[in-house]
Formats: sequence, structure tokens, C-alpha cells
Amino acid sequence: MTDLRTVLGEAVGAAFAAEGVDAALAKVTPSDRPDLADFQSNGALAAARALKANPRDLATRVAERLTNDPRLSSVEVAGPGFINLKLADGALSARAAEVAIDAGHAGAALVASPRKVVIDFAGPNVAKPMHVGHLRSSIIGESLKRIFRFRGDTVWGDAHFGDWGFQMGLLIVAVGDEGKADGFLIEGDGPFPAESPVTLEDLERLYPAAAAMAKEDAGFRDRARKATAELQAGRPGYRALWAHFVAVSRTALEREFGALGVTFDLWNGESDADPVMAEMIAHLEATGLLVEDDGARVVHVARPGETRKRKLADGSVIEAPSPPPLLVISSEGSAMYGTTDLATILDRRKAIDPDLILYVVDERQAEHFEQVFRAAYLAGYAAEGSLDHLGFGTMNGPDGKPFKTRAGGVLKLHDLITMAVDKARERLHEAHLGEDLIEAEFEDIAHKVAVAALKFADLSNSRTTSYVFDLDRFMSFEGKTGPYLLYQAVRIKSLLRKAADQGATPGPIVIAEPAERDLALTLDAFSQAVAEAYDKRMPHVIAEHAYRLAQSFSKFYAACPVLVAPDAATRGSRLTLSKAALDQLETALRLLGIDTPERM
Ligand code: ARG
Repeated sequence: MTDLRTVLGEAVGAAFAAEGVDAALAKVTPSDRPDLADFQSNGALAAARALKANPRDLATRVAERLTNDPRLSSVEVAGPGFINLKLADGALSARAAEVAIDAGHAGAALVASPRKVVIDFAGPNVAKPMHVGHLRSSIIGESLKRIFRFRGDTVWGDAHFGDWGFQMGLLIVAVGDEGKADGFLIEGDGPFPAESPVTLEDLERLYPAAAAMAKEDAGFRDRARKATAELQAGRPGYRALWAHFVAVSRTALEREFGALGVTFDLWNGESDADPVMAEMIAHLEATGLLVEDDGARVVHVARPGETRKRKLADGSVIEAPSPPPLLVISSEGSAMYGTTDLATILDRRKAIDPDLILYVVDERQAEHFEQVFRAAYLAGYAAEGSLDHLGFGTMNGPDGKPFKTRAGGVLKLHDLITMAVDKARERLHEAHLGEDLIEAEFEDIAHKVAVAALKFADLSNSRTTSYVFDLDRFMSFEGKTGPYLLYQAVRIKSLLRKAADQGATPGPIVIAEPAERDLALTLDAFSQAVAEAYDKRMPHVIAEHAYRLAQSFSKFYAACPVLVAPDAATRGSRLTLSKAALDQLETALRLLGIDTPERM
């Protein structure tokens, strides 16, 4: 099943080829003048330049070859050599019917050769509360996971839990200093207490305090560094204590992700790469990649001549390699953030052997990934180009700086969701929506509206741009918002319920009115929108389509009565169109990670 734009592209390409022109020049795009045509091809202009021919003449000859195509109702040459194509109503009807029966896929094509893809996203850390940076990664990563899976790839979403760095040493020391870790501080193999000595509240209180203390107190910092190295070296008591930290954190995090509709296939942590660490170090040594650098051990990743000016502590400026070397083993002997990322690539290769690994992480970590990817390619752990960092901008406050709470702290994800649900309830009441529903259903709707508002606000922006957090705007039932789209979907559901109550049944699609044409063309465009979102790894293309579809349906509904259509055949056709529109809208929203309620 192929969309009309692709089908026409092939037909126009064949006509160009018959005129001796490279078919690749014959691109078909949506028309700039929807009042005159549905699609256009500007290929004759570029081709005529190459052939030194008159573009209008070439376009006329190509157009003549297309005039007998039964899928087209008119083919016209305009201006200097544009070819305007208008589809026959029959072709549109047939395509809309195809989309309508393609339940769950809504007309979208699959990839020709499915791949194995790991998507590394969210990246929460043990004990550190999640903040809005993790929120963006979770929202974008969840959507990409769904888009890739929808296209036919085998996908593993991996949380890449931050459970192995310096923060673990900080916690071990801080919990010890509070006298809570006594059972774990003894040397040897244990046994150690089976109960966690700390709650989530303890961890959330102790971590920021310990991080602050480490900045001021060199003695404390050194003890935390030592504890980190001992943990990584396998000291049994530290490992047992650490396992409690990880379990307590993970339970809480899973609850928060669950509330957002975000799930993972793998809950691997940085620590899960530990078993392959020794093998990796040996390999890096054997290949000569691992070199001494001032007590530490690094891999140089810059190519000769790739340098950048860098200012040293004493104020002097030197020409330093760029990107800087990847720090693999610190002078204390600890594995670093880049070390675990590199080892994780090796670990994933052994366990999954993916064709592609995508990292959905804040743009500010771009250099880190550049270092890790280059090291992985040098070490032969991944094929060139099979690792991709999908960076994103920040969510800003009204001041244009990364979003903070009124008190100036980072906003915790949990508080953000609570805030959004409160606002959703308020908005629903204002709009007199859901008032006659029982409380549990109203609460479910408020939750769905809140999640839709947050996710759509994020995903309607191109991933790489930053945007301003404005809950009032996100939560509006008008404009390009999640709540508007939910409302439109619910409206179609209610229309279909009414039709069923009246015994009206859907029938074959017959496209006639301009608003019906527009809706059918929009339904057709979904397949290409999904393909583009997939190729560019940009969910906003699907967000755009969902909005266009909702608007197209709205115009159709205003212009073409459904329940009181002039005759039963027209009513049946319009009901099928409405059902197809709903199915595609819900499919698009699902790809963004957004669920629609049954009513409002
Ligand atoms: N835990 C990291 C952070 O909070 C993000 C992890 C991103 N993923 C990765 N493979 N490094 O910044």
C-alpha cells in the first residue's frame, strides 16, 4: 500500500525518463496553490537547465504523457514550467478507503529492511531527583521508540540508569556519616543487612547535601572518591549498600515514568557494563589506544590538526586537541562517565548487536558523545555512523534560562506532573467538560489532558530548539496544543457513538466536496509524515501532521453534515471518513506518547 504522493512521483518520474531526463529530478510535492492543484512537480526547470532545453516545452511534453493517467483529473503546465496535478475523485476515494481499513497503521508504510535499534533515553540517576532535562529526554525518546517500532524496526528502549559514578561514592560516605551504614562497612563478604538502611527521602536529602559538601571539603571529597573506586573494584559491603540505593531509586522512578506513559525494555545501568570493563581495557591497551596522560589513562580521539584554542588555569592559551581525549581511567583508578558509555557500547554489541544506537540526551553533552563515538569507532566496537547523538534544546523559564521553580531550584518531575494535573482539572471545569462523569473518570481525563499538554508542547517544537515553559498556553483547548487535539478526537468519538445509536452505518467512501478532498489528501499525507519523522529522527513532523489532520477534520465537519447528510450513501461515506480520521489522529497521538480519553 503506497501513498498517492509516492505513486504520482513514480508516474511523473517515468514520464520524465521517457523524455530522456533523470527520473530523480522529477520530485512531486504538495501544491503551493491547493485551489488549483493537489500536487506539483518543478522538475522541468532543473532538468531543462541540465539539457539546455526550454523548460516550458519539456514540461508540456511530460504533461502530455500524463494526461491519460486515470488517477489524474487534470495535468496543467503553469508559469515557466511547473506541472500542476489534480487527482481524480476516484483515486482519492480509493486511497481514503485503503487508509480507513488499515486499522492501527492508518495508511503508513513500513521500512523496507527492518533494523535492530537501541534507543538510550531518559538517563535518570540514582538518588538525584529527575529534572526537566530528563523530562525532555523521556518525552522525545519515548516518541522515537514508538515511531521506530511502528515502522517495523526491532527496538530496545534503555533507561541507562546513572548508577556507577562519583555520586555513588558520595552517597556511601554520606550514609555512613549518618551512622546508617554500619552493617555494611565491615570488610569481607558479609552477610549484610537485607533491608535498605535508607528511604527515598533519605537519598534525596543526603545527595544534594553531600554534593555541596564535596565542593567545599577536600577531605570529604577524597573519601567519596576512594569509596567510588572501592565500590567499582567490588568491595562486597559497598556493593550490598549500593544495591539498596539502586533498588529504592528505581522503584520510585518507575512510578514517575509510569505516570508519564514512558516505559523501557531495558533498565540497564552504567554499572551493567562493568563485567566487560576488563576486556575493554585490555583491548584498548593491546591496540595502543589507551595512553598515559598525567597519571590518568585516556584515548586520543582528535585527528591530526583538529585543534582548538584553550585557556589554561595560569591564563596562558594553548592549541589543544579537539575534541579532547576521552578520560577512561581517572588518576584515582575510577571508571568515568565516558568509560561506562564506551563499555556499554561493547556490552550492547555482545547482547544485541544493534544496527543503530540513538542517544536522546541534552545538546550540552554533544562533546561527550563525540568523544565516546570516536573512541568506539577506533576500537572497532561500532560501525561508522551507527551511533547518533540526538541532542535537544532546553526547556526555559520566562527569563530565557533553563526552567527553575519560583524558589530557584530545579523543578522535580513529580511536582511538574502534579502541577499540570491541577491545571488540567481547572481548565476542564472552566470549559464545563467532564462535569457529569464520575470522579474516577474525571481524574483519568485530567491526567490524560495534563500529559497531552506537556508532551505535545515539547514535541511540536523541533527537537533541537529550546522553548519556553508556559503551562497556561500548553493547557489551552484552542490552538496548537495537546488538549485541542484530544478534544477533537473526543468530538469524533462522540459523533460515531451518536451515529451508532441512530443505527447509521459506515459505507463506501465517495469523495466529492472540497472539504472531503482536503481530508482525503491529509489522510494520504500521514505515511510520508511518519517516514520523514523517522528519517530525520524528529517527532515534531508527526505533531504537525496531527494538528493539520484535526484542522482538516474540523473544516470537513463544518462543511459536510454527517448525521444529517442528504442521503444514506453520503452519510455512510462521511462516517467512514470520520472513523478513518479518528483512527489516524489517535495513531499519530500514540506515536507521540499521548492517549486519548473516550469522552470529556
Ligand atoms: N545520567 C545522565 C545525566 O543525567 C544521562 C545519561 C545519558 N545517556 C548516556 N548513555 N550517557 O546527565
